[in-house]
Amino acid sequence: MLRRLYHDQPSSFAFTSANQTWAEAQITKYPKGREASAIIPLLWRAQEQEGWLTRPAIEYVASMLGLAYIRALEVASFYFMFQLQPVGSVAHIQVCGTLSCMICGAEDLARVCKDKIAANPHELSADGRFSWEEVECLGSCANAPMAQIGKDYYEDLTAERLTEIIDALAAGEVPTPGPQNGRYASEPLKGLTSLKDYDSGKTQYNASVQLASDIGDTVKRIDGTEVPILTPWLGGSAPKASKPRKSSPAKTPAKPAKAPAKPAKATAPAAEKKPRTMTAARKSGADDLKLISGVGPKLEGVLNELGFWHFDQIAKWTDTEIAWVDTRLKFKGRITRDNWVAQATTLAKK
Ligand code: FES
Repeated sequence: MLRRLYHDQPSSFAFTSANQTWAEAQITKYPKGREASAIIPLLWRAQEQEGWLTRPAIEYVASMLGLAYIRALEVASFYFMFQLQPVGSVAHIQVCGTLSCMICGAEDLARVCKDKIAANPHELSADGRFSWEEVECLGSCANAPMAQIGKDYYEDLTAERLTEIIDALAAGEVPTPGPQNGRYASEPLKGLTSLKDYDSGKTQYNASVQLASDIGDTVKRIDGTEVPILTPWLGGSAPKASKPRKSSPAKTPAKPAKAPAKPAKATAPAAEKKPRTMTAARKSGADDLKLISGVGPKLEGVLNELGFWHFDQIAKWTDTEIAWVDTRLKFKGRITRDNWVAQATTLAKK
């Protein structure tokens, strides 16, 4: 397939402030003179922010890395994971059309996409909310046929089930990913024939689906608040956020952030203090805590049970209060790692 830049391009691109910080931190992973190695994560981040990869975004990334534009375009146009044309604002559905999936019904899934979204792959639906394409094997052949939607795999699909999933996404829901026919993972449909003890103590979903549900990134765009900006390879935290550059690419690459002089010292476990909680949400209704990266439906339920319903509550947590909540969430370290307080602070202002 010929991969070309889309005919209708925006005039500019800039990372959000948080994404700019994230991108500059990525560059510091590579040795001096090898900063160009960060091209794929940076292009990917640009795509996560905008939904697709625009020409100004490719040029912007090239300039950050001190690359000729053509070098960045070569990468963007080589890998099919980069979308060179606009995708649906709600979801882009990638139907696997390789052998196992084709044998098990991929053509039926493509037909659903043609009927419900657009006649041709890479064409936006009439309302601009969906798009689709056929892709090569996504490595989930034991659960054929399948499709990737956003960041998650939907497996063991039928035409009817894919129809329901698209309808649910259109209604603002995010269906649980993973096998859609009742299988836990990729075990035989009639049940386990060996390793039968394995399922004792298993989680509600298989590990991939459980993690996807907990993280809840799904089809969301990334504005930089979702992923913790950490630089563990430098032994410290993030470099300072800098202002996004204007769209016209600079001649010189961005300076990688300086490494902190010394690795952070290990600290003693924080004392715990119960934060102020509420018995119910305010009359205006609870905030959607799932907008905080790292909070899925399950964790949102736990937070509500603990008495947290609003972003401004979480935004006020102190270290000792984080330690108190951390202990009760049973996801040790997640609050700090995903920087919930900063995320909640941003969300509370919206
Ligand atoms: S053939 Fe579809 S995932 Fe491999």
